[in-house]
This record gives sequence, structure tokens and C-alpha cells, in this order.
Amino acid sequence: MPDAVRIRPLADADIPEVARFHRTLMPPGEGWGETQWRFEREHPLRFPFVAEVSGQVVGVASFWDEEDRMYLATLLVLPEHRRQGIGRRLVEAGEALARERGRECMALHVRADNGAAREFYARLGYVSAVPGEIRYPDGTPGDRLEKRL
Ligand SMILES: CC(C)(COP(=O)(O)OP(=O)(O)OC[C@H]1O[C@@H](n2cnc3c(N)ncnc32)[C@H](O)[C@@H]1OP(=O)(O)O)[C@@H](O)C(=O)NCCC(=O)NCCS
Repeated sequence: MPDAVRIRPLADADIPEVARFHRTLMPPGEGWGETQWRFEREHPLRFPFVAEVSGQVVGVASFWDEEDRMYLATLLVLPEHRRQGIGRRLVEAGEALARERGRECMALHVRADNGAAREFYARLGYVSAVPGEIRYPDGTPGDRLEKRL
């Protein structure tokens, strides 16, 4: 049986490792370093979570309470732990928090060229709200997706 996945808030001790893999694995210009992760942890309206398997952090997400909605600012699962429901568990943790805080919508942006993430969000019930609303550092457009909670 696979080891249990635990979703919990990011702790100070996680930050060096999370920053290392987020910087390495996200597209250029989209990875967050230790300063950003510390800011996420300390900000009263930002809620970073990690997924842990056998004591190892294998995924991370950060949710921002923007008061009219919750915003999923980043999400990453280590490649060798994908397709095991960990990304879904992280998003569901943010959705549960959003509902607790009285938010009725989760929003996020996804790159036009990120087919895997688009499939993933569609599977979780996210729909396109504003195509091409942003541009990523490399110029790729990003669509805003939303889900009513
Ligand atoms: C997107 C990402 C977070 C998904 O994490 P994950 O843990 O693999 O996702 P899950 O296992 O919870 O997937 C749930 C469902 O989403 C869909 N899905 C996930 N990855 C998919 C892929 N590569 N292709 C097609 N469908 C996919 C499937 O329906 C899957 O269910 P199934 O495995 O039973 O078929 C992960 O691929 C990742 O970290 N990618 C790189 C970073 C990134 O793109 N982040 C999002 C930026 S907006």
C-alpha cells in the first residue's frame, strides 16, 4: 500500500527544501526562493501548504485570500510523485480553507502551453474565465480559471 499523504501548513523548517525544488522545477522566472516562501508563511492572508510522504515534502501550494475570492498562486508536485492524487489533495485543502473563510470562488492562472495542468484543473471542475489575462515572464499567455465553491 502506498505511504499516506499528509497535507499540512508550510513550516519554517520546510523552506530551504521547498525553495530549492520550486526554483529548480518551475519554468524560468516562476520559481520562488526562500525569501518569497518566508513571506508566504508570515503574511496573514497567504496560506502555503505542503504535501508530505514518509517525512519528505513532495508538493507545495500557496493560496492567497483576496477577500472577494481565494487565489491559488502556485502549485507543484515533485515529478516522481505525480498522478497519485497529491495535487488534488493540495487544491482540496485550499478549497476547504476558502469555504471556511466564506469565499465562494477559487481563481488561478495557468499557462496556455501547460496541457497537464489544464487537464488537471478541468478534472477538478475549473473552467476558463478570462483567456490570456496575464503573461508569464517568458511571454506565454496565461488564462484565468475559476471554480465556484
Ligand atoms: C499539475 C500538477 C500539480 C498535478 O499534480 P498531480 O499530483 O500529478 O495531480 P493528481 O494526481 O492529483 O491528478 C488528478 C487528476 O488530474 C488529471 N491529471 C493530472 N495530471 C495529468 C496529466 N499530466 N495529464 C492528464 N491529466 C492529468 C487526471 O485526471 C488525474 O487523475 P488520474 O491520475 O486518476 O487520471 C503536477 O503535474 C505539477 O506539479 N506540474 C508542474 C507544475 C505545474 O504545472 N503547476 C501548475 C501551475 S498552474
